[in-house]
Amino acid sequence: MTKQFDVLVIGGGPGGYVAAIRAAQLGLTAACIEKETYADPKGEVRLGGTCLNVGCIPSKALLQSSELFDQAGHSFVMHGIALDNLKVDVGTMVRRKDNIVTQLTSGIKGLFKKNKVTLLGGHGRFVGREDDAWQVEVTGKDGVELVNAKNVIVATGSKPRHLDSVPVDNKTICDNVGALSFDGVPKRLGVIGAGVIGLELGSVWKRLGSEVTILEVLPDFLAAADPAVAKDAWKVFTQKQGLNIYLGVKITKVTTGKKGTSVEYEIGDETKTLECDKLIVSVGRVPCTDGLGVENVGVQIDERGRIAVDEHCQTNQPGIWAVGDVVRGPMLAHKGMEEGVMVAERIAGQAGHVNYDAIPWVMYTHPEIAWVGKTETQLKNEGVEFRVGLIPFLANGRALGQGDTTGFVKLLADAQTDRILGVHVIGNNASELIAEAVVAMEFGASAEDLARCCHAHPTLSEAMHEAALAIDKRALHF
Ligand code: FAD
Ligand code: NAI
Repeated sequence: MTKQFDVLVIGGGPGGYVAAIRAAQLGLTAACIEKETYADPKGEVRLGGTCLNVGCIPSKALLQSSELFDQAGHSFVMHGIALDNLKVDVGTMVRRKDNIVTQLTSGIKGLFKKNKVTLLGGHGRFVGREDDAWQVEVTGKDGVELVNAKNVIVATGSKPRHLDSVPVDNKTICDNVGALSFDGVPKRLGVIGAGVIGLELGSVWKRLGSEVTILEVLPDFLAAADPAVAKDAWKVFTQKQGLNIYLGVKITKVTTGKKGTSVEYEIGDETKTLECDKLIVSVGRVPCTDGLGVENVGVQIDERGRIAVDEHCQTNQPGIWAVGDVVRGPMLAHKGMEEGVMVAERIAGQAGHVNYDAIPWVMYTHPEIAWVGKTETQLKNEGVEFRVGLIPFLANGRALGQGDTTGFVKLLADAQTDRILGVHVIGNNASELIAEAVVAMEFGASAEDLARCCHAHPTLSEAMHEAALAIDKRALHF
C-alpha cells in the first residue's frame, strides 16, 4: 500500500532533517528520504548530509586538532611551556573526526525517533501526482516503494564542482570527501581554488607540516569579504603562516604519475608547473538534482541548475518546496536549516520567515573570519553613506592574555540613522563574536544601541563594544 504523509522531505542534510523535525513538532506526519551511507561501517543510511558527514563538522574537527598541534609547536613557548619531540598521529586525528561524525549522525536518527519522523532509506524521485498528493518513488536496498504527500520539501543539497581536465579519484586528486581523510601528511599539497574549503583545508595540512600551494583563478583574494578583512587575511596567511597563494592563475593541464601530480598553470605571461603529492580541487559546489525527476512534476530549474523558488522557498508547483544548497543563496548549513524551519511552519499555516540580510558567514581559518550584512565595497557601490568603527584586538586585554592579538572588529553604520549595516571580524573566536552582531541586526539596532550594552570584562566581545563606540569617535580604550 502507498504510504501517505503530510510532509515528505527528500534529502537528510541540515535543510532536510530540520524541516522534517519542525514539521513533526507542529503535529504533521513527516518522513525524510536519504540515500547516502557516507562510508558507514555497517552500510546504513546516514543522516546529516554534506554538513555532518563530509563538510562542516569533520572539517572543524580537523581544524581544531591541527590548530592545537600548531599552537603546541609555535605558541606554547611564549607561555613558558616547552615541549620536546612533538609528533602528530594523523590516524588518531582522523579517527577522532570520524567518531564525532558517527556520534552526530546517529544523534539525528535519535531525534527522528523522538519526534516520530519516519526515515526512508533510498533514492527519492518524483513520479507524478495522485489526487491531491505528489507521488515520490523511493528506491532503497530492499526495493522500490511509492510514497504520497501533499507537501514535498526538496533538500537534496549540492555536490563538489569538478573541472573537466582534473579527474578526481579521492586518493591523489581529492574534493572535500578525500581531503578530509588523508592517511598521512602530504609533503607537497596543491589546492585549486582559494575559497572557503581551499583555505580551511589548506590550513589544516599546512599546520601539520605540508608545503601548501593554492592556485586561484580570480585576481582578488577573498573578493566576497570586506576589503580590510581580505587585506589582513592575505598578510597573515601568506607572510605569517607561509601558505603559497597565487592569484589570477589559469590551470592548463593536470597529469598524475608515479611521483605525484603535476599542475601546469599560466600566471601573467608565464607558464609554471606545480608538483604535488596530493591535490585538492575546491572550486565551488553545484546543486544536486540528479535523478530527482523534477521534469515529471514540472518543477522549474533556474539558469544555474538550482530549483527555482520564491522568498519563502515555494517552487512553481503548489505543495512542492525546496531549501538549502539546492536553491539560491549562500551554501551554508545554517541558511538551509532556517529555510527548513520556515517551510515547515508555512505548511502548518504559520508565518515562517528567513531574514536573508542577517545570515552570518564564517571561515574557520586561524584567524577566523566572520561577517554579517554589507561590506564597505557593497555600501560604496550602493551609494550608501556610512561611518566606520574599527578596533584592533591589539587594544583588547583578553586577546593579549590569550597571546593572540591578530585582527580587528569593524562595524559599519548608516551615517544618517546610525543603523548597523555590516559587521566584520577577523581574529580569534570571530565565529562566536559574530552572533552578537547578528542579534543586533535582527533587532534593527543602531551602533548606539550596541554601545550602550554592558560587555563583560575582560572579553573579546569588548572589541565589538568599542567598535560601536568608535562609530561616534568615542572609543574608550583605543
Ligand atoms: P546536504 O547537506 O548536501 O544534504 C543533502 C542530502 O540529500 C545528502 O545527504 C544527499 O545524499 C541527499 N540526497 C540528494 N539527492 C537525493 C535523492 N534524490 N534522494 C534521497 N536523498 C538525496 N556550511 C556552514 O554553514 N558552515 C561550515 O563550516 C561549513 N563547512 C563546510 C565544509 C566543507 C568541506 C563543505 C563541503 C561544506 C561546508 N559547509 C559549511 C556547507 C554545508 O555543508 C552545506 O551548506 C549544507 O550541508 C547544505 O545542506 P543541505 O541540507 O542543503 O544539503
Ligand atoms: P568557494 O566558492 O568558496 O571557492 C571556490 C574558489 O575557487 C573561488 O575563489 C573561485 O574563484 C575559485 N575557482 C573557481 N574555478 C577555478 C579554477 N578553474 N581555477 C582556480 N580557481 C578556481 O567554494 P569551495 O571552497 O569549493 O566551497 C564550496 C562551498 O561550501 C562554499 O561556497 C561554502 O558555501 C561552503 N563552505 C562553507 C564553509 C564555511 O561556512 N566555513 C566551509 C567550506 C565550504
